[in-house]
Amino acid sequence: MNKITVVKLQEMKQRKEKISMLTCYNYWMAKILNEVAVDVLLVGDSLGMVVLGYENTLPVKVEDILYHTKAVKRGNLNALLIADMPFMSYQLGEKEALLNCSRMIKEGGAEAVKIEGGAQIAGTVKRLIEANIPVMGHIGLIPQAIHKMGGYKVQGRKKEEAQRLIEDARILEEAGIFSLVLEGIPEKLSKEITRKINIPSIGIGAGKYCDGQVLVTEDLLGLTGRGTPKFVKQYVHLDIQIKKAAGKFKKEVKESKFPTNKYSY
Ligand code: KIV
Repeated sequence: MNKITVVKLQEMKQRKEKISMLTCYNYWMAKILNEVAVDVLLVGDSLGMVVLGYENTLPVKVEDILYHTKAVKRGNLNALLIADMPFMSYQLGEKEALLNCSRMIKEGGAEAVKIEGGAQIAGTVKRLIEANIPVMGHIGLIPQAIHKMGGYKVQGRKKEEAQRLIEDARILEEAGIFSLVLEGIPEKLSKEITRKINIPSIGIGAGKYCDGQVLVTEDLLGLTGRGTPKFVKQYVHLDIQIKKAAGKFKKEVKESKFPTNKYSY
């Protein structure tokens, strides 16, 4: 058994072994992803869109992440399990952040939490780490700031924006995060940030130079039923397979061809 821990991720960066991370929201997917030894499972707040059908991640509640973290925990053996903290679950003050994040560890069985934001959340990060809750950072295109950004737009294209993100990465590392998600930023910038920090960077729409890569699992499986951004590689189109199978089932039921003797007692 090769149980992945935050310490092992650090060692992977040092020996230049790339880190694989995928979102996971349920028990059976956790079991499948464990079978191929994906390093990190993230119960992302993307579940708001992927599982719950919201327009964006903002309506996701602490209870939603907790519920799905518990399910993933039951199917996970070896991957590092991270719970993504929803919008307004860690911004209202350190006490509230501690309370909500500790629930993910105590009740959900997560081994770390992820929170979005730069220098402005460094104080909260420090408090969480003092309480022995490992924190993954997330900067660049941060979906919880969709209204402020005016949509899902690549960040850090302008010089001063890029400078701010480099500074955010430095401050968050100093605050104690064990890893940093870089989302929706130019490859050149993620390369520079990855070179400057001593903790692993995990990219999504941030090019090839990050220490690891993360995708939403349903995106790579072709299960979102919507267009995907440029950075998503669809490795399979399961939506087509599902439509074929469900369509066949429906036809056979209508035509009294299912169940045959083989499927009856
Ligand atoms: O919520 C999520 O799925 C994420 C990852 C894509 C980084 O934050």
